[in-house]
Amino acid sequence: MAFKIAILISGRGSNMEKIIKACKNNKLKSTVIIVVSNKTKVEGIAKSNAHGIENLVIDDLTYTKKEFEILLNKVLIKKKIDLICLAGFMRVLSKSFVKKWPKKILNIHPSLLPAFKGLNPQKMAIESGVKFSGCTVHFVNEKVDGGEIIDQEIVKIDIKDNEKTLSKKILMKEHKLYINVIRNLENKYGKSKQ
Ligand code: GRF
Repeated sequence: MAFKIAILISGRGSNMEKIIKACKNNKLKSTVIIVVSNKTKVEGIAKSNAHGIENLVIDDLTYTKKEFEILLNKVLIKKKIDLICLAGFMRVLSKSFVKKWPKKILNIHPSLLPAFKGLNPQKMAIESGVKFSGCTVHFVNEKVDGGEIIDQEIVKIDIKDNEKTLSKKILMKEHKLYINVIRNLENKYGKSKQ
């Protein structure tokens, strides 16, 4: 039971790296086939190179969103991708693109959705005074951070926490949550490894 995974990034790529490692050391049965970035020279691309994973930069200074999605779609089909993991991918995919990949696109968001959608959710959590936050993996639909929630992890916010410390605590949970969600999906939907 395994997926052919594409990971979409825009930056640091720590979730991406955890997924790559989990596939390589058989914590997951799936394989990361390609990493796609809409930003050049980001840390995540260097990391994917270090792991010997093919990557493709479709730079958003050169390509329009429409061109990006056409190229991305072609690559995903060519590589027979059956799971697309957004991991710090800072671009909203269009409704028409998302419709082509129903229940095939996952995203990880650093809040307990539906609370704190969009940018800077850790800052919003601190400012709002909530005592708990966390992270969510959800299917991607046409609404930003609005798709069906698959799983969540909770983080307690201490009185001393600020945006930085909370982000760090949440990120540690993200790394485990993303792998667990993919493993559960492998058990539920994945094809046998070919
Ligand atoms: C993570 O906090 C993720 O939830 C959010 O962007 C951040 C990406 O971090 N969508 P990284 O690139 O995986 O290190």
